[in-house]
Amino acid sequence: PDAGPVGGTVVTEVRRAVEAFGGSVTVSTPEDLVDPDRAVAHDVVLLVAERAAQPGSAAMRHTEPVQDPHAGLVTAVTGGDLDGTAGPLIGEETFLRGRRDGRTTVVAGGSRALLYGLHDLVRAGETAFTADQPMTWDLPTQPIRMLDHWDNLTVHPVMGQVERGYAGGSIFWSEGRLRTDLSRVEGYARLLGSIGINAVSVNNVNVDLLEARLLTEGLEDVARLAEIFRPHGVRTYLSVSFGSPRTLGGLSTADPRDPAVQRWWTEAADRVWARIPDFGGFVIKADSEGQPGPFAYGRDHADGANLLARAVAPHGGTIFWRAFVYDHQQDWRDRSTDRARAAYDHFAPLDGRFDENVVVQVKHGPLDFQTREAVSPVIAAMPRTRLAVELQVTQEYTGQQKHVCYLGPWWSELLGFPLWGTRGPTVADVAAGRGPGGLAGGVAAVSNVGTDEFWCGHPLAQANLYAFGRLAWDASLDPVDLLDEWIRLTFGEDPAVASALHEVMDESWRTYEDYTAPLGVGFMVSPTNQHYGPAVDGYEYSRWGTYHFADRDGVGVDRTRATGTGYTGQYPEPWSETYEHLETCPDELLLFFHHVPYGHVLHSGSTVIQHIYDTHFRGVERVEGMVAVWAELEGRVDDGLFVRVTERLGEQLRSAREWRDQITTYFWRKSGVPDERGRRLY
Ligand code: GCU
Repeated sequence: PDAGPVGGTVVTEVRRAVEAFGGSVTVSTPEDLVDPDRAVAHDVVLLVAERAAQPGSAAMRHTEPVQDPHAGLVTAVTGGDLDGTAGPLIGEETFLRGRRDGRTTVVAGGSRALLYGLHDLVRAGETAFTADQPMTWDLPTQPIRMLDHWDNLTVHPVMGQVERGYAGGSIFWSEGRLRTDLSRVEGYARLLGSIGINAVSVNNVNVDLLEARLLTEGLEDVARLAEIFRPHGVRTYLSVSFGSPRTLGGLSTADPRDPAVQRWWTEAADRVWARIPDFGGFVIKADSEGQPGPFAYGRDHADGANLLARAVAPHGGTIFWRAFVYDHQQDWRDRSTDRARAAYDHFAPLDGRFDENVVVQVKHGPLDFQTREAVSPVIAAMPRTRLAVELQVTQEYTGQQKHVCYLGPWWSELLGFPLWGTRGPTVADVAAGRGPGGLAGGVAAVSNVGTDEFWCGHPLAQANLYAFGRLAWDASLDPVDLLDEWIRLTFGEDPAVASALHEVMDESWRTYEDYTAPLGVGFMVSPTNQHYGPAVDGYEYSRWGTYHFADRDGVGVDRTRATGTGYTGQYPEPWSETYEHLETCPDELLLFFHHVPYGHVLHSGSTVIQHIYDTHFRGVERVEGMVAVWAELEGRVDDGLFVRVTERLGEQLRSAREWRDQITTYFWRKSGVPDERGRRLY
């Protein structure tokens, strides 16, 4: 019933899925829901409510009192009657589910919602078909829930095919073309639909010539992918190069103010949407780490973004303009430049200048997807701009899918971070359009799948993909509950498996933090080994702006206003004061904000140096524990999977010991302070 390119195919997909399980399905009009003759013929009724259902219409009257999952959204829901004031119900992505008189019903506000309602049924399993349950509604808080693939069309000599990819080759591309066997993509599209992802960008943000051509010669390949994603409610996006009018169009400039450049982008957009009517838009990394951008023409990021935005606006397209901009040619001797400041310094002054179909995509932290970072102050600084928050599902800095590192708890903390203090809007609120300016962007993350037999290299890394989708849907979901869902859906109901996996995974992010860079200082990763494994001074005298400044007396980066780089001043209250002072700065971010002596006493009561020793020894002990717990699952999970996880845990343990020994030894040699518990240092 819901017309349009997405609607029809989604409905077909839902029908196919239900019938594959031997179920029957009726997808019909709201009135059918109250027609007992039609309804009883089916175990499950999936129903697309009419978008503009009238207050008090048959379908609306049928619903029972509704539980509000996101308190505050619905102003009036009265007993048995959900009238037109309940706007979210008739949103394209909203559904209700409940059970009465032996019949389970999903009412959906649109085709995507129907799909989400179906997956919600699957997630609920048996419980959706036993006792009566009141109709409960659900809808995503984020309007755009996106995965960005850093996939190249060919194998890059340094990065491999997928930049920061740890799961084999690209599931889309092979040797410069779309793969001929796209069955993995079909499975992936279904998987994304099942966790509520509604946007996917199919190539690397670092756009080489071959990838740039997806916009022109390669468009048929993109159209084919869009066909696969469409039935699962996922819109397709491309990463494009700002330099395309020159490199692809043969123009002498890519200046946003040049009419020929503007025309080039308009024609490019017209071509794309003529071929793919529901195409999403473009993702762009400009003037960042060597990618071309507007600076070359004396223009700024708003000029650049609006150029593209105007080309795609007639088609309803969106531009995701990344805020990951900093000086990647810094001289380490230059103590006045602080990379953490860069995104704010570049973007905050441009607030209000971006067109309404531009979303500025901001990394969650000011540096680069570290295991622990402060939240980016940009997220609080641009009320007149649509902002998306970018996370990294691929585990570049968190163990590269060799280490178990369940990131749900980290993202939950980040998305729930109250930018203006305890009761104010959170990071997720700003992204969802519930911040001060009321403009919504969404959330995006770098994907972690590839051609690997287990999809993610580490079989347990798929939990991160799952948790990302679910938290993008609703950031208030408990990450441990989400893990529970994932375990049940993936491994079935065996309680021994569930409890072992919780033991291995629940705290794995904090364990990883324990044995890697301490107290929020970040990096200390190997530059020569693609950020895998320790190299305490690996980046210390480099051009990348990621320093820890350890000397014989102390360690950490002074980002205070009083004596440091002034970065703390980019935060609103209370955080600018909280982070400025040692007395209030949280332990886990201490070295991110302050340079302190080794004897500095943390809020925990430990000294910095003793904390470094204790956490690193503890981290390795916890990994030893993980290995032992996993070993008990032999025979209870698939053999191949058991072997793969066992191998990876072996590597994790080796690597954790290496981290521990290098970090503890480094700081012992620098400080001369022994471990008070007398453990082995080298
Ligand atoms: C990190 C990562 C790069 C990536 C960049 C980005 O720096 O190491 O591989 O290109 O982020 O987000 O654009």
